[in-house]
Amino acid sequence: MKKQTIKITDVETTMPHDGFIVSKTNSKGIITYCNEIFMQMADYEEIELLGKNHNLIRHPDMPRVAFKLAWDMISTGKEFFGFVKNLRKDGGYYWVFVNITPDYDSSNNIVGYTSARRKPQQSAIDAIIPIYKEMVRLEQSGGMDASGKYLFDFLDSNKIGYDELVLSLQGV
Ligand SMILES: Cc1cc2nc3c(=O)[nH]c(=O)nc-3n(C[C@H](O)[C@H](O)[C@H](O)COP(=O)(O)O)c2cc1C
Repeated sequence: MKKQTIKITDVETTMPHDGFIVSKTNSKGIITYCNEIFMQMADYEEIELLGKNHNLIRHPDMPRVAFKLAWDMISTGKEFFGFVKNLRKDGGYYWVFVNITPDYDSSNNIVGYTSARRKPQQSAIDAIIPIYKEMVRLEQSGGMDASGKYLFDFLDSNKIGYDELVLSLQGV
């Protein structure tokens, strides 16, 4: 099923408290593994996910710059934390608190990535929604430069780093 054919709805699926969604990709972001709860939350069968680009579940409410930040970090060996709204195959959505880390071969080359997600704090999502909304709005007129500037100005004015903000919102 192509993403364009999905009719987006306002129906939210919330993650169980003890849920732990895991997926793995190759170095290009093509899904190579996903666990059972990933399939349940995203509303896909395993066969529909393996070999597909992870952007299959990208939600249009997510600012592009969030993924740029993620890729800039993980492709240079850092881990990424963030809040992500994902698109289900049935058009609904689910929020996650995500951690993505690089996987290395024995010669220390990045060969892929592993992502683990848990239930986000509702207070964190309430704080992130208006920020992402503004970032998406800015991207539509000024592209990723504009939304990136907004994010970094927001962090500067609150005297907080990106990781610090995200981890403190989740309370970890
Ligand atoms: C291990 C891993 C997990 C990812 N998980 C998600 C995810 O759950 N949702 C999502 O929209 N993008 C996820 N991404 C990012 C996608 O690769 C992609 O950058 C993003 O969906 C934006 O797509 P686009 O660059 O085609 O616009 C993940 C990437 C990696 C490497």
